[in-house]
Amino acid sequence: MRQGGFRAEEIDTSRPHPARIYDYLLGGKDNYEVDQQAGDELAAAAPEVRMGLRANRDFLRRAVRYVVGEGVRQILDIGTGLPTSPNVHEIAHEVAPDVRVAYIDNDPIVKVHADALLSRSGSTSIVLADLRDPRAIVEHPDVRQVIDFDEPVALLLVAVVHFLTDAENPERIVTTLRDALPAGSFLVLSHATDDFADRSDAQAVYNKATASLNLRSRAEIERFFTGFELVEPGLAQVPFWRPDSPPPAGSEEIGFYGGVARRNG
Ligand SMILES: C[S@@+](CC[C@H](N)C(=O)[O-])C[C@H]1O[C@@H](n2cnc3c(N)ncnc32)[C@H](O)[C@@H]1O
Repeated sequence: MRQGGFRAEEIDTSRPHPARIYDYLLGGKDNYEVDQQAGDELAAAAPEVRMGLRANRDFLRRAVRYVVGEGVRQILDIGTGLPTSPNVHEIAHEVAPDVRVAYIDNDPIVKVHADALLSRSGSTSIVLADLRDPRAIVEHPDVRQVIDFDEPVALLLVAVVHFLTDAENPERIVTTLRDALPAGSFLVLSHATDDFADRSDAQAVYNKATASLNLRSRAEIERFFTGFELVEPGLAQVPFWRPDSPPPAGSEEIGFYGGVARRNG
C-alpha cells in the first residue's frame, strides 16, 4: 500500500517519532500508541512539557509575524512537524499573502500529511530531506523552485536542532545553512535546554525514539546565531520573546530558548 508516494511500511509505527510525540502533546490526532506512551512518559518526567510546547508554538507564530513584518517574503522551515493550525504559511499569509514557504522534514508521515494539505497551493512546497545534510536542502530543486537565495530568507530551525547529537556537529550544519542566506535574512531558532531543571528523565524517553534529545546550555545555543545579530530581547525563554499577552504563571520553568537574528552584512 502506498500513501502519498510512500509505502505505508516506510512509516515506522513501532518506535515513537518526534513529530508524532509533539503532535500528541499539542492535542493532535496524527499519532500512534507508541507516541502517546512516549508523550505521557515525557509529561511525567517534565510536567511543564505541554505548556512548553505550546509556548514554543506561540514563539514560532510571533517570530514568523515579526520576520514577515520586516519584509521577508521567503521562509525555509526545516523540521516542520505535522500540520498544526495555524501552519507557518497561514501565519505568514495573514501578514503578507505573497510569502513563499519551503517546508522540510525527514519524517515521511509529515510529508504525507503536508502533501495533502498543500496540494492546492503553488507558493509552498514540502520536501523530504534531512537537516544533517544541509547542502542537499539548499540545492534541492523543489526548494529552489520556491526559494531564491539571492533574496532575503527567514530560516526556521524551531525545536529541531536539539535532535542533532554533538557528534553530528550541529554548529557546522547551522553554519552551512546560515552561509547560504544573503544580507537581510533572518534565523529563527528555538532549542530545548536543561538550564532550568535536570531533564535527564525526559531525555531518556527519547532513547527508544527515532531521534535523541540533546539539551544544550544558553551559551551553546547562542553560538548557533554567530555572524547574525540577535534582535531584542536576544535569546530568551520562549514565553518571554516579545510576548503579545502576559506570559502565564510557570513560564519561568519552560526549558526552551528562542531567538531571532538578522544577517546585516
Ligand atoms: C518538535 S517538532 C517541531 C515542529 C515545528 N518546527 C514547531 O516548532 O512547531 C520537530 C520536527 O523536526 C523533525 N526532525 C527531527 N530531526 C530532523 C532532521 N534530522 N531533519 C529534518 N527534520 C527533522 C521531526 O520529524 C519533527 O517533525
